[in-house]
Amino acid sequence: MKTLLLKKEEVSRLINMQEVIDSVEEAYKAFNSGQVEQPDYLGIHLPSPRGEIDFKLCYFSENEMISMKSSSGGFNDNPTAYGVPSGMGTILLFDARTGGLACVMDGSLITGLRTGAAGAVSVKLLARKDARKITSIGTGNQARMQIRAINEVMKIQEIHAWDSSPESLAKYKSDIEREFGTPVKAAKSKQEAVEQADILVTTTRGKGSLVEAAWVRPGTHIVAIGTDQKGKQELDPEIFRNAKIVNDSLSQCTEKGETWHPLNKNIITRNDIHAEIGEILLGKKLGREDEEEITIFDSTGMAIQDNATASKIYQNAVEQGLGTYFAFFEK
Ligand SMILES: NC(=O)c1ccc[n+]([C@@H]2O[C@H](COP(=O)([O-])OP(=O)(O)OC[C@H]3O[C@@H](n4cnc5c(N)ncnc54)[C@H](O)[C@@H]3O)[C@@H](O)[C@H]2O)c1
Repeated sequence: MKTLLLKKEEVSRLINMQEVIDSVEEAYKAFNSGQVEQPDYLGIHLPSPRGEIDFKLCYFSENEMISMKSSSGGFNDNPTAYGVPSGMGTILLFDARTGGLACVMDGSLITGLRTGAAGAVSVKLLARKDARKITSIGTGNQARMQIRAINEVMKIQEIHAWDSSPESLAKYKSDIEREFGTPVKAAKSKQEAVEQADILVTTTRGKGSLVEAAWVRPGTHIVAIGTDQKGKQELDPEIFRNAKIVNDSLSQCTEKGETWHPLNKNIITRNDIHAEIGEILLGKKLGREDEEEITIFDSTGMAIQDNATASKIYQNAVEQGLGTYFAFFEK
């Protein structure tokens, strides 16, 4: 039995952002069409200075692929002590017809790609059509991926950015201006940045409210990325009170996403959650309905996004003859 091995550099050549956006749309629709089996993910937390490693598993009946993604993070001594990154990722794709291992690929790029694409899909459905200004609260890896993906679906005129680390903010400004030629204004305060936003993207590792309700203008679309685990928070729960709330997965967002906070404070009930994003893509629920509403897309990240994206990379590799085959056994 043959298994295809794809290295990081090959993975990066095998997919472009538009294909990732298409794959993530397919993933969200599949999730709301009963085509996905996605157990809770597993994690092992190791004592400092080591970090954690998570395993996300998913079966997608449409493509008959079972995916498992491992992602590690927070191994902060890695670069100096071992000469490897502090976080790494691997994806295994199994052929669901046989249970055999079809592909092993580096997974360190996929999380960022599919998370950026998630934001872009939400912008297509929920941002105002005349939206031009993006505010980035948080200027790390995911902030960059959001700009790369949103740039595919709208014309970004200017970016306002804030981060608790001035070094991170300065590097983001120079990187984004070099990559896209879009001006980035480094804001002196969070409030100054948020008040400019047509689209507000939050991608920090924050564990408390960073964005106050009073700063958010009517008509803003919020892409809430950072809160993907219990204990994390980026938004004032009051922002949810009269907003149109969209989740990637209701069960995940109400348990460990940004949506948990207003539920916990009784600012909203589960009935106030408008939709899962796949329902809007399938035409079962409406996206933005007027220019004034504040929309919130709460993304916690789903294994089906990894599955659909990795399966597309695998398909492209087979078509283009890229990668190296190996066999654990001959027959
Ligand atoms: N929703 C999803 O699917 C998904 C996917 C991947 C990552 N994430 C989450 O997104 C977040 C960001 O990931 P990343 O890879 O960009 O991380 P990163 O470390 O590259 O960047 C985080 C940025 O936030 C800033 N920051 C950290 N804590 C802050 C705070 N309390 N207040 C203000 N700024 C703060 C840092 O200075 C840094 O610039 C993480 O919480 C991560 O778990 C979510």
